[in-house]
Amino acid sequence: MKSFDILSPENKGMTKQNVNAKLKRCRMVYYFIFIPGALALLLSAAAMSKFFSFKSFIGTESFYSHLNPEGPNGIQNDVMVVTVQIVIQKIEEELDKLREIKQDPSLSQSVFQQGAFLADILGLLESAVASHPDSAVNNQQNGSFSFHPLVRKKKQFNEPGEYFLCEEIRKYVRVKPNRLGKQNFMGANATFTSIGHACFAMKAELEEYMNYDVGEICNDDWKLAQKLMVHGCDPLPRRRCFSRAPKLYNKPFPINESLWKLPDDRNVRWSQYRCKNFACLAGNTTRKGFFKCADCFNLTNHEVPRWVSLDADSNQTAADFLISEVLGVKPGEIRIGLDFSVGTGTFAARMREFNVTIVSATINFGAPFSEMIALRGLVPLYLTVNQRLPFFDNTLDLIHTTRFLDGWIDLVLLDFVLYDWDRVLRPGGLLWIDSFFCLKEDLYDYLQAFKMLRYKKLKWVVAPKLDKDDQEMFFSAVLEKPPRPFR
Ligand SMILES: *[C@@H]1O[C@H](CO)[C@@H](O)[C@H](O)[C@H]1NC(C)=O
Ligand SMILES: *[C@@H]1O[C@H](CO)[C@@H](O)[C@H](O)[C@H]1NC(C)=O
Ligand SMILES: *[C@@H]1O[C@H](CO)[C@@H](O)[C@H](O)[C@H]1NC(C)=O
Ligand SMILES: *[C@@H]1O[C@H](CO)[C@@H](O)[C@H](O)[C@H]1NC(C)=O
Ligand SMILES: *[C@@H]1O[C@H](CO)[C@@H](O)[C@H](O)[C@H]1NC(C)=O
Ligand SMILES: *[C@@H]1O[C@H](CO)[C@@H](O)[C@H](O)[C@H]1NC(C)=O
Ligand SMILES: *[C@@H]1O[C@H](CO)[C@@H](O)[C@H](O)[C@H]1NC(C)=O
Repeated sequence: MKSFDILSPENKGMTKQNVNAKLKRCRMVYYFIFIPGALALLLSAAAMSKFFSFKSFIGTESFYSHLNPEGPNGIQNDVMVVTVQIVIQKIEEELDKLREIKQDPSLSQSVFQQGAFLADILGLLESAVASHPDSAVNNQQNGSFSFHPLVRKKKQFNEPGEYFLCEEIRKYVRVKPNRLGKQNFMGANATFTSIGHACFAMKAELEEYMNYDVGEICNDDWKLAQKLMVHGCDPLPRRRCFSRAPKLYNKPFPINESLWKLPDDRNVRWSQYRCKNFACLAGNTTRKGFFKCADCFNLTNHEVPRWVSLDADSNQTAADFLISEVLGVKPGEIRIGLDFSVGTGTFAARMREFNVTIVSATINFGAPFSEMIALRGLVPLYLTVNQRLPFFDNTLDLIHTTRFLDGWIDLVLLDFVLYDWDRVLRPGGLLWIDSFFCLKEDLYDYLQAFKMLRYKKLKWVVAPKLDKDDQEMFFSAVLEKPPRPFR
């Protein structure tokens, strides 16, 4: 009911900023169904007078019942929709007029404000219509996003943001024309901020994620953000709130010290994890981080020997190569690369000693992997397997992967992933598949997927994995991308 304040006489002098302040919560948009209704009534009182006594819309309760999906007033609902349509048309006409007036520089500032205000109201009206029960039914039948046929005969959803009720999402995805009306230096006459299409299936979560006050501190909701990304809402929209930081951030250790020392616990937000410090993650406790990497926070024992010395007591290393062996294949040629693995950046730390710069793709599965890698002084790339790699074609010297694309991955997805890796590897670049494991019966299919690349096999090992009753196999390879000259 608060929203009615905006229209009350004592608030007539309200500026657009004040209105915006009221609009900024996504949650509030649902209440704003009342505003379009009120506007509709004010602007077309004549049309309405046949159906409503003036009294009935002063009382908010009876007014609500006209909008209520369960309300008995089906006919009146239709009238409502037609009325809103009229209002939308009028506002659109007004906006068109304003656009013409805008050419006059002397008026531009106030006209701009007026236009922005009307555009906001228009957005609200449209969201009210979109959330209207009739249009919802209509949408489902049509299997696409469309407005109520009465409201928009000519235009369908021409902007995907119109599907969302949250004003902040709508603002984000709206195409942003360049201020000067010309192409920008990138050759586009607008900026197109977009979201992953799976965001539409996760409307409630996305609206929760975008529910914040502009300029305030965001919720501690990285986990919600990651859930959205993992489920395909990727890219996520940007936000206009300040991300939460640890209460007290201490400066990280200097570079050589940082590489092999557990970081300061205070530099991480622990609220969403079982462990509340790095010692817990590194220790031999159950109930800790991500199972695939249960030991990889134990830098001193578990991580130190990896890729630099073969562990004598374990036969698991039968499929491991040493960095020196792999780099020895192409001395001096391997300078930059990507590690697509589950881990704490130890591969990148070791490669650094060989003067190779590695970025480590990771997400925070059950433990603060990104923070750990960054606090070690390495580059974490926060990226899910859903996404195309953010590198240009034929650029990287090396892609290394371990413990990630193991026997769970769908073969078609693996195909897409491998072609993408091939895209970013330069000719002569190396693909190092490190201890890929899968069930014995799946091995053939996976090997075929890797063979599909038609890379030169520099190293190739298949070995039984000894810890699971001989059910699983390890596979490791170093493959070289062939040149593909134009024909
Ligand atoms: C789908 O929407 C269009 C208008 O957008 C309408 O003409 C058509 O009747 C709708 N189809 C169904 C099955 O509701
Ligand atoms: C931007 O360019 C497209 C075609 O490239 C054109 O249709 C559109 O009207 C242009 N928009 C503006 C605001 O100039
Ligand atoms: C870090 O260690 C490397 C050798 O491991 C050494 O060459 C380098 O000078 C050290 N850097 C600093 C800042 O101590
Ligand atoms: C790493 O693991 C070893 C043996 O599993 C254990 O003794 C050691 O305490 C662990 N390191 C840390 C920092 O907890
Ligand atoms: C750590 O846990 C493993 C089993 O997960 C066990 O075999 C090992 O003995 C433990 N090490 C220590 C130091 O407790
Ligand atoms: C390691 O594997 C070799 C054969 O490849 C076998 O002879 C040896 O017993 C194994 N060692 C252990 C500790 O399992
Ligand atoms: C890395 O580069 C440094 C400085 O350029 C050099 O001293 C060092 O030998 C190089 N290390 C390796 C393993 O090539």
